[in-house]
Order: sequence, then C-alpha cells, then structure tokens
Amino acid sequence: MNDAALSEDVTPSPLPPPGTRIIVTGAAQGIGRAVADAFHARGARVCAFDLGPVPDAPEGWIVARGNVTVAADLEAAFARMDEAWGGVDVVHANAGISANKPTLDLTEDEWRRTIDVNLTGAFLTAQAGGRRMVAQGSGLLLFTASLFHAVGGAARAAYCGSKGGVANLARALACEWAEHGVRVNALAPGYVETALVSDLLARGRLDAAALRHRSPQRRLVQPREVAAMALFLASPAASSVNGAVLSVDGGWTANGAP
Ligand SMILES: NC(=O)c1ccc[n+]([C@@H]2O[C@H](COP(=O)([O-])OP(=O)(O)OC[C@H]3O[C@@H](n4cnc5c(N)ncnc54)[C@H](O)[C@@H]3O)[C@@H](O)[C@H]2O)c1
Repeated sequence: MNDAALSEDVTPSPLPPPGTRIIVTGAAQGIGRAVADAFHARGARVCAFDLGPVPDAPEGWIVARGNVTVAADLEAAFARMDEAWGGVDVVHANAGISANKPTLDLTEDEWRRTIDVNLTGAFLTAQAGGRRMVAQGSGLLLFTASLFHAVGGAARAAYCGSKGGVANLARALACEWAEHGVRVNALAPGYVETALVSDLLARGRLDAAALRHRSPQRRLVQPREVAAMALFLASPAASSVNGAVLSVDGGWTANGAP
C-alpha cells in the first residue's frame, strides 16, 4: 500500500489543526469563553470578541472590545486578525442575550434588542467572517442557537424567535457557501451552567429543580461539553458536516415525558 492510500485509510482527526485561527463573539465568559479556552488548549490562535473585558486572557490572544450589532466593531476585529495572522479559519457567532418575560409584558424595545443581538449580530458576524472565508475558499462558520430553535416555551417569544432565525440562517448559509469550501453549522445547547442561566435562576425566572428534572440526564450541560462539539466541528473529521443544527442538550428536546 502506498503512502497516499495509507493516509486515506486513516480516520481524520476529530480535533482542529494547531494554529487554527478562530474568532469567538461573547468570549468573555460562559460558552464563548469555554470555546476560546478549548481551542487555545489545542494550539489555536484566538480572537476573543466581547462587549466587556475578557478576564485573564492568555498571552497571544487578540482581545477585541465591541458590539456584535455594530458592523464596524466586527470589521475592526477581523482586520486585526488579518494583520496578525493573515485571515480566519473559524468564526463562532456565539454572543447572545436572554429575554424571559411574558409576551404581553415584553416591550417593543426588549423584542428589538433581543433580535438585534441574537439574530442581526449573528448575521453581521457571519457576513464579516464569510467575506474572508469565501474569498480564501475554506473555513467553518458556527452559530450558537439553542434548544429553543426547535421548540417553544412560555415567556420566551423573543428568544425563540431569534434562535429559530439563527438555526435557519445557518442552513441558508450552508447552502450558499458550500461551493466556496465554507461549512456552516449551529450548536443547539440545552440549559448550560453559565451566568445567563444563573441570572434567570436568581431572578426567579427559572427553577433549578425543574430544569434538572426536565433533562433525561437530570443535570445542566457544562460549557466545556458545548466547546467539545465546537472542536469536533472545526476538525477534519467533520468535513462533511454542513447545515447541521446539533443538539448538546443531554436529551432535553428528545424528552416527551413530563
Ligand atoms: N446558557 C445556556 O443555557 C444557553 C443555552 C442555549 C444557548 N445559549 C446561547 O449561548 C450563547 C452564550 O450564552 P452564555 O450562556 O455563555 O451567556 P453569558 O451571558 O454567560 O455570556 C454571553 C457573553 O456575550 C457577551 N455579549 C452579550 N451581548 C453582546 C453584544 N451585543 N456584543 C458582544 N458581546 C456580547 C456578554 O458580554 C457575555 O460575555 C448565547 O447565544 C445564548 O443564547 C445559552
């Protein structure tokens, strides 16, 4: 067997190659931080984009302060990656906010803000990153949707509307950019133990025991479990995973039992 045949026979790596250039929005904490840390630990070059400071960012990271609803902020971050690293391989549009509130009390401003950050912010991130990845003919665009892309829930109109939009945005771009070598996928996490969820628990908008009971695993998802799926999607092993919305929810959406 010659070398080429041998290498084709080897199962592709389920980890991104060292040196992978990734930008993660909402990278200061929670899921985004776990993704940034996981890629860093595998030798990736990380640009951490967030509204606020990114605590304890390792040396070598590009830390970009900005708002995902402002195209110029995103463009400035991508320009820094272009200058430092000559481009980008993985774009993770992750920043998002929650808006758990009964619909009849939800203000127009709260609705617009949720759609603006979660959906328009994801679109603007995709467009800035996609422009570069389409031109270079390779890359992965990843969104963080939610289990609420697929199911509804009381007091979640804006959040469900935005995340349904994010999931279908991923499918649309997967169709549009595949011919340019760019894959597009979305993660659909269940309830993850992050500040976003602790804040809702603290304000009485969620109940910890009910959350655990609803999941067949009887626990919340950990941020590093979501990051592990992002690593896989950015790896050679995922070369045919495109247009997928992947559940990382412990079986939450599979569970039809009360
Ligand atoms: N935690 C969960 O249970 C859960 C479940 C499913 C999906 N998600 C989604 O995962 C993503 C991350 O959630 P998380 O739980 O890590 O949240 P988090 O609140 O812990 O972190 C979100 C980060 O995004 C940043 N951010 C918010 N608005 C921004 C903006 N306009 N521009 C730039 N940065 C901004 C915040 O500063 C923060 O650092 C969100 O899209 C969320 O909807 C979370």
